[in-house]
Amino acid sequence: MDERVIIFDTTLRDGEQSPGASMNTAEKLRLAGQLEKLGIDVIEAGFPAASEGDFEAVSQIAGRLKRTEVAGLARANRNDIDRAWQAVRHAARPRLHTFIATSDIHLQYKLKMGRDEVVQAAVAAVRHAKSLTDNVEFSAEDGSRSDRDFLCRVFEAAIAAGATTVNLPDTVGYALPDEFGELVRYIRQHTPNIHQAVLSVHCHNDLGLATANTLAAIHAGARQAEVTINGIGERAGNTSLEEVVMALHTRANRMPVGTQIRTEFIYPTSRLVSMITGIMVQPNKAIVGANAFAHEAGIHQDGMLKNPMTYEIMRPESIGLSASTLVLGKHSGRHALRTQLKDLGYDLSDEELNLVFAKFKELADKKKKVVNEDLEAIVTEGILRTADVFELEYLHASAGTTVLPMASVRLKINGRLAQDAGYGNGPIDAAFNAIAKLTGTSSELLRFSISALTGGTDAMGEVTVRLRENGLVAMGKGADADIITASAKAYVNGLNRLEYLKAHPLQEAAML
Ligand code: KIV
Ligand code: ZN
Repeated sequence: MDERVIIFDTTLRDGEQSPGASMNTAEKLRLAGQLEKLGIDVIEAGFPAASEGDFEAVSQIAGRLKRTEVAGLARANRNDIDRAWQAVRHAARPRLHTFIATSDIHLQYKLKMGRDEVVQAAVAAVRHAKSLTDNVEFSAEDGSRSDRDFLCRVFEAAIAAGATTVNLPDTVGYALPDEFGELVRYIRQHTPNIHQAVLSVHCHNDLGLATANTLAAIHAGARQAEVTINGIGERAGNTSLEEVVMALHTRANRMPVGTQIRTEFIYPTSRLVSMITGIMVQPNKAIVGANAFAHEAGIHQDGMLKNPMTYEIMRPESIGLSASTLVLGKHSGRHALRTQLKDLGYDLSDEELNLVFAKFKELADKKKKVVNEDLEAIVTEGILRTADVFELEYLHASAGTTVLPMASVRLKINGRLAQDAGYGNGPIDAAFNAIAKLTGTSSELLRFSISALTGGTDAMGEVTVRLRENGLVAMGKGADADIITASAKAYVNGLNRLEYLKAHPLQEAAML
């Protein structure tokens, strides 16, 4: 395939703007490594001026990645750009991404600037960025609702000032596919120097059209797509990487534009993002949802047995979804575990493997078959978390038809042991009450959901909680063969995430 579209992943920046999806630096580093393995061309690692935590994470990611470009986001001002540059400058391939809004509604109410002033600000920002690196992206925020000719004027000026990529965002997810494709064509025809830059698109999913709009834009000549894993992001999210990449892959006959994504890492990456952020993937989500390759109707199953192509347009293996569910048992050794984890996309150090192996043996004692989902839960539980303020040491809960549900809990709080008991409507409520007493949290439980990772009554239970404290929202996730323990782990994880948010406040002025 001659033509190629650049895949720009913004899971770590726009994706992290999903309510409650904050990730700590260790989690971001792990995810960045996985994104590099997936074959992403450009990773937007964060918005360094937003907080110290963001700066630190972007800087560490920049130092770690070898092949992938690392971009830092900056508003169109010198301070943001300098801060972003400090964070990405030591990357093997750094990029600065600066933006300013171009729609009249943003100019009038948000920026309180005239059009000429916006052009000047864009040019000054791009020039300054260009004085630091050759690789500069400029975005026209709310581009899809901007006056077309003004948009072309801004892009022309940004390219003349040195932008190597110009990005057209559908910031509020308002565009329709034919209209968005038409806008891309218009920009290509009416921006005289457009051939000197890569034209990019960045879509939001408010009307469920982000993928359709991105594909329409690629069809019309855009050659960079800004996406996130699982489509996470601000409000209804961003364009899903997996949907765009697999659409191009599957329908190359109609759209002969390739990517350099290694599609067999799509599924493990999707799971990793879900585990780290605590944002579950809806079962019917295209490509990576639990039902995406499940065939329920008898007539479909019959067709599938005769020839999978009757009802399947992609092979599950092409996204890294292994057909076999049986993985390991209690007699499996360290080598088998390492191989299986590698297949799932986890390259662990010896020390990490030891930790996972111990947990795996514990689980295999309780459960005959340990499947991929179990292993992923162990990895996330065991090694993807950094040192937490609260650690669950011990839990005992009692419940039944005739007893008052009670739980006693021992936590390590900043390394010191503390123990207490609580009562409740059920054992989970009792455990939460004990944990709340021990931690002194004033957080509110906004959501609690529980699901079985696999079939069978011995399945691991996966629990997600959503907590709010003083305007901060955090998700927590926990998995265990015992659902009361899984719930307690999820609650403790959510409380740790709230602690992280308290310790890394967003600088208000830098909020998007
Ligand atoms: O949605 C948007 O407009 C953005 C820009 C910062 C690119 O995220
Ligand atoms: Zn966005």
